[in-house]
Amino acid sequence: MAHTHSAEPTRRDFLYLATGAMGVVGAGAVAWPFIDQMNPDASALALASIEVDVSAVEVGQSITVKWRGKPVFIRHRTEKEIEEAKAVPISALPDKLARNSNLPDTAEATDTNRAAEGKEPWLVMVGICTHLGCVPIGDAGDFGGWFCPCHGSHYDTAGRIRVGPAPENLLVPPYAFVDDAKITIG
Ligand code: FES
Repeated sequence: MAHTHSAEPTRRDFLYLATGAMGVVGAGAVAWPFIDQMNPDASALALASIEVDVSAVEVGQSITVKWRGKPVFIRHRTEKEIEEAKAVPISALPDKLARNSNLPDTAEATDTNRAAEGKEPWLVMVGICTHLGCVPIGDAGDFGGWFCPCHGSHYDTAGRIRVGPAPENLLVPPYAFVDDAKITIG
């Protein structure tokens, strides 16, 4: 099949979602879609905070989970992606703020401030374009990060807006690694 290289991770994202919807949680997805469809009240509670097993997410892979009704991208970055993100001076960023819910509002958008604390390869972000709310595509765009096809916003490998109408970097939600394999979001 003639899939482009960049299309593949996106297809994988959807596979993870579909897997979760069937209640097969072995691959690291959470059981949210099932709860979601069964009972809105229960789902509101369940989605306040979710735990995600990321042990199966290899370097270069991403998964998308749903948290409070929003897609959250979890990416296990490659060395190259990290290096590229670190090489960008703050002065080159349209949005110089980290937009990381775990840091003060004034924190700068360095790669360190965007990535998981002490776990540089991991990036956790709300997958909603800060322009008008489309869901960007992973492994795409001019900066090797995410691309929003709605109006052409290019995000880099730290999820920072680089070119296009989006005014802010992709939001980093409140989260923490509970251990090496598990992230709690919310
Ligand atoms: S919604 Fe993403 S560029 Fe407009």
